[in-house]
Amino acid sequence: MTETLNTRAPVLRLKNVHRTYHTGEGSLTVLKGANLDLRPGEMTALVGPSGSGKSTLLHTAGLLEYPDEGVVEIEGIDAQSLSDGARTKIRRAKLGFVYQFHHLLAELNAIDNVAAPLMINGVKKSQAHERAKELLEAMGLKDREHHQPGQLSGGEQQRVAIARSLANKPRVLIADEPTGNLDPRTSATVIQSLFDTARTEHVAVLIATHNLDLTSYMDRVLTLSDGQLVDAEL
Ligand SMILES: Nc1ncnc2c1ncn2[C@@H]1O[C@H](COP(=O)(O)OP(=O)(O)O)[C@@H](O)[C@H]1O
Ligand SMILES: [Mg+2]
Repeated sequence: MTETLNTRAPVLRLKNVHRTYHTGEGSLTVLKGANLDLRPGEMTALVGPSGSGKSTLLHTAGLLEYPDEGVVEIEGIDAQSLSDGARTKIRRAKLGFVYQFHHLLAELNAIDNVAAPLMINGVKKSQAHERAKELLEAMGLKDREHHQPGQLSGGEQQRVAIARSLANKPRVLIADEPTGNLDPRTSATVIQSLFDTARTEHVAVLIATHNLDLTSYMDRVLTLSDGQLVDAEL
């Protein structure tokens, strides 16, 4: 019973998150009391026009930026109360990130790119490679393991990046327009593998996207309205 309750506790929680940017031209408040509970394995999309604050929200949720006010909790731990070092540890252990551009290391092949975050965390090379192979296979890249990024198509590169983001078995995958750079057909296959693999791995997903076709895969679709997260009207 307790276990059931625990597994339903949010892996990511935003409470009353505020964020204002100050520039020479003045200040711009992007988040004005954003709230979110993301449950284990839950797939949530964040849609909305460019400039509405999606990346700001994801960076704050991913502990890459601090809110001006409010709380970000990862598995019930208030990230605000932690040192930078402890935040980095949580980020590496609990969170995975995928961006519009893959940021793969050009001189490494697919396996080594996916294994890199594991080896940084001290996992032995043989074990890291085993896990990398499993993920690349799940992403439909079994016969691309030894290719370097430059020898892969854009969609394949992005699938390697997704496999890499899942290497450490994160609880939350944060993806900021991961298919924004791909054509619609490639985008659909990449997203399909992302969601299949995330479901198998029981990873919660928070994904910013312009692609409304994706939203049929989602448990929830949210948008930012006046700096707050609300259900999107599709
Ligand atoms: N570092 C920054 N300094 C000042 N303004 C910023 C900064 N980052 C984002 N903004 C502004 O905040 C708003 C929201 O940006 P962003 O979160 O990137 O939105 P989205 O990802 O939905 O396009 C935009 O108007 C953007 O110009
Ligand atoms: Mg953005």
